[in-house]
Amino acid sequence: MSDAVAPILITGGAGFIGSHLVDALLAVGRRVRVLDNLSMGSRDNLPLDHPGLQLIVADVADAAAVSAATEGCAAVVHLAAVASVQASVDDPVGTHQSNFVGTLNVCEAMRLHGVRRVLFASSAAVYGNNGEGCAIDEQTSKAPLTPYAADKLASEHYLEFYQRQHGLEPVIFRFFNIFGPRQDPSSPYSGVISIFTQRAQQGMPIRVFGDGEQTRDFFYIGDLVDVLVQALSAPVIEPGAVNVGWSQAVSLNQLLSEIGVLLGGLPEVTYQAPRAGDIRHSRADNQRLSDRFELPTPTPLADGLRQLLGR
Ligand code: NAD
Ligand code: UD1
Repeated sequence: MSDAVAPILITGGAGFIGSHLVDALLAVGRRVRVLDNLSMGSRDNLPLDHPGLQLIVADVADAAAVSAATEGCAAVVHLAAVASVQASVDDPVGTHQSNFVGTLNVCEAMRLHGVRRVLFASSAAVYGNNGEGCAIDEQTSKAPLTPYAADKLASEHYLEFYQRQHGLEPVIFRFFNIFGPRQDPSSPYSGVISIFTQRAQQGMPIRVFGDGEQTRDFFYIGDLVDVLVQALSAPVIEPGAVNVGWSQAVSLNQLLSEIGVLLGGLPEVTYQAPRAGDIRHSRADNQRLSDRFELPTPTPLADGLRQLLGR
């Protein structure tokens, strides 16, 4: 099958980021195969009646299933993982199966079936607290503080091994904090914006872990998908991971005040002990991202929140 008609495999494609990428690829006429165990993702996120889409319900830790799903694909976007840092602190063994063994299975399946291009969702978490007081560039020392971060960094190293040894073409993205519609707010492990916006809309109390002065670099999902689509067809793979963030630090207290303005008020907000392994400050230096990709006009946090809140 020629690469133009061969499907793109998206592991974790029924989740938040994956399902937006599915929509974008189907919209430009690509065929898409999703492998997802539906642990966090949902069929409701996918246009299941679209003829270009195939959903395989399977675990990325199941090597045979990953191999079968990879066969005949033009490229892989490997997103399947337990995305919660806190979940990995609570269950390092369980999350390792998804977050590391899954990556190794993807690498092996690609080697076996001669598929070369792979986009990988690594994370700003690999830098730990080394971003204190500055923007983090890709050379910043790595200091994984949690099993989640250690699995992402190990996955990066394995992808680079398969690149040197077996000719894989990995594009390793270190996403900062992505937000937007379909980020599931239903678990305490969910992304903070999805939890805060849902609770604020329902008038439910909001818990802040720590003093709320920790900062994150929030990046809108539509902007991320734009970059991922470019990376799938980039003619050359340049070495080194790429940060994905806007280089804007927003504290949780600032985030709450933005949500309060948009909704005309906030429910009760309580402050509790910080989470174990929680990073204090995280802001991307995104020079490499803008050197390598055509960046869309950044979606400001307030605009992204407005779209999320339907305002
Ligand atoms: P998500 O939970 O919405 O998506 C992950 C998907 O993977 C879900 O559909 C889930 O069901 C699936 N999945 C989990 N374990 C699996 C397994 N063992 N086998 C098969 N499928 C499995 O989260 P997301 O925010 O869309 O994250 C996608 C990727 O991006 C993850 O690798 C995450 O670590 C990474 N990432 C996300 C962010 C962010 O801010 N959202 C930032 C950095 C990195
Ligand atoms: C997030 C992503 C992770 C990604 C990382 C990259 C999720 C679930 N996590 O982790 O996949 O690798 O960005 O930077 O998408 N908080 C509260 N109250 C709550 C929930 C969270 O105060 O109810 C706080 C947390 O303690 C933390 C901050 O909000 O300080 C952000 O938490 P979270 O959204 O879970 O993101 P990260 O841990 O940054």
